[in-house]
Amino acid sequence: MEIIIQPTREQVSKLGAKYVAQLIRQKPNAVLGLATGSTPLALYAELVRLHRETGLDFSQVTTFNLDEYLGLPPVHPASYHHFMWENLFQHLNVNPKRVFIPRGDLEDEEVAEYCESYEVEIQRAGGIDLQILGIGGDGHIGFNEPSSSLASRTRIKTLTERTRADNASFFNSTETVPQHVITMGIGTILEAREVLLLAFGVSKAEAVAASVEGPIASFVPASSLQLHRRARFLLDEAAASKLIRQDYYRWVYDQKPTWQNP
Ligand code: PGA
Repeated sequence: MEIIIQPTREQVSKLGAKYVAQLIRQKPNAVLGLATGSTPLALYAELVRLHRETGLDFSQVTTFNLDEYLGLPPVHPASYHHFMWENLFQHLNVNPKRVFIPRGDLEDEEVAEYCESYEVEIQRAGGIDLQILGIGGDGHIGFNEPSSSLASRTRIKTLTERTRADNASFFNSTETVPQHVITMGIGTILEAREVLLLAFGVSKAEAVAASVEGPIASFVPASSLQLHRRARFLLDEAAASKLIRQDYYRWVYDQKPTWQNP
């Protein structure tokens, strides 16, 4: 794992966008795994800027989102469909046929088959080249809440009350946050060729420390990334503040050969 600590959210997001842009320039038909929530917003804004100002081309890029609330139609303002089009896709030259977001408007009996088809679609696209992740205060990635199997695939999950409360700002109240979601599994995420996990603020510091310096445990889903060959944690100072070996990570990053930087 590579732990990169930058002074501000802005700097972390710009660096994250550089990794994404480097991949797209090297592989114009790259497959991106995308996340929602407040964490990736500045990274997405930077990708939009790079598209506008440098012509970064998304026309052949395929995207797969991690998750969606069950029970919300795509037009619902709190749905992740709406979030993605609003904050990213409408500002880029993506081909809508190459945009995949789990559907939230499924009947109960459709869910299992749909989840399998989402996995098939990822395989058909050639697998995910780079997965962007946030992290929940409880260590979740995607909506893989604590105790999710480290081998899990795309499926229905039940949100914890903490996650519902954390996400209530996108809804009228915690009560109106859906109880169930569809999310890629931890096993799905671990198959991405490269992973970028971003975290900002002190509310993420404990989850980050447990994921990086604690044991691999299903109760800390992001700790599963210790098993990944190419996982980067991009952190601001506050999110890194509970890491015991901060000085070591900073030293390693400073020693990095310049040709390895995006
Ligand atoms: P946030 O959520 O980006 O809104 O903090 C991250 C997550 O729950 O994965």
